[in-house]
Amino acid sequence: MLSLNKVSKSFHQRGIVLNELDLKVSEGDSISISGPSGSGKTTLLNIIGLLDRPDSGDIVFRSQSILNYDQEQSAYYRNRNIGFVFQDHLLLPYLSVRENILLPLLASETEETEYMKKVDGSLEMMEKTGISEIAEKYPYQISGGEAQRATLVRALVNKPSILLADEPTGSLDKKNAVNLGDLLLQMNMAYGITLILATHSQELAEKMKTQYTLAEGKLISGISH
Ligand SMILES: Nc1ncnc2c1ncn2[C@@H]1O[C@H](COP(=O)(O)OP(=O)(O)OP(=O)(O)O)[C@@H](O)[C@H]1O
Ligand SMILES: [Mg+2]
Repeated sequence: MLSLNKVSKSFHQRGIVLNELDLKVSEGDSISISGPSGSGKTTLLNIIGLLDRPDSGDIVFRSQSILNYDQEQSAYYRNRNIGFVFQDHLLLPYLSVRENILLPLLASETEETEYMKKVDGSLEMMEKTGISEIAEKYPYQISGGEAQRATLVRALVNKPSILLADEPTGSLDKKNAVNLGDLLLQMNMAYGITLILATHSQELAEKMKTQYTLAEGKLISGISH
């Protein structure tokens, strides 16, 4: 469904971060990317999510080269096909949990029946993730683990094909980290969402079907199961 071909990226001062990197992702895959701090994991996720552009190389999503997308197509790709979860949850403080979760629907001009379907879907995911009871609370009234689950549901509201998660468990304690990891896998299995996550956690990485390490600008494949 997604393939990166010889993708390279350099930054001034830092030099080459990604060096003719190749990656093939199939529908429904779950992939972890490990590697030392500064190895380029976030850079890679940003490039896949079209938040940043490579210097060279190509990225093909469902047989279209995403690097040729115009602004409108890029926005559509980001809104509809990609979900993001970052290390820090980034919920908007003046909106309730429920409003935060429904925010992506307002941004994507969803037609009414589809909108209602997605609202129902979000309620179902809130049930599944155990945050229904806190729907009307504001971010300052909930715990870090709850906030991270709310962020996950928000990232999934538009039923993206790919979920990009950058250190999703980085700010959580052990128990919540394990729960969130399990939740990511459940979402992968229940909705067929392809997972690509960057993490320092060996435990989380091992839950993914394919594990890669980013080193010297390339992905080294580890275990697949
Ligand atoms: N916008 C930027 N401008 C300049 N240098 C950058 C930029 N973004 C990243 N870098 C550099 O590129 C390298 C890779 O950064 P990146 O954030 O991708 O690493 P990472 O693997 O995600 O690290 P961490 O595990 O700490 O999150 C780092 O040396 C970083 O300083
Ligand atoms: Mg990073």
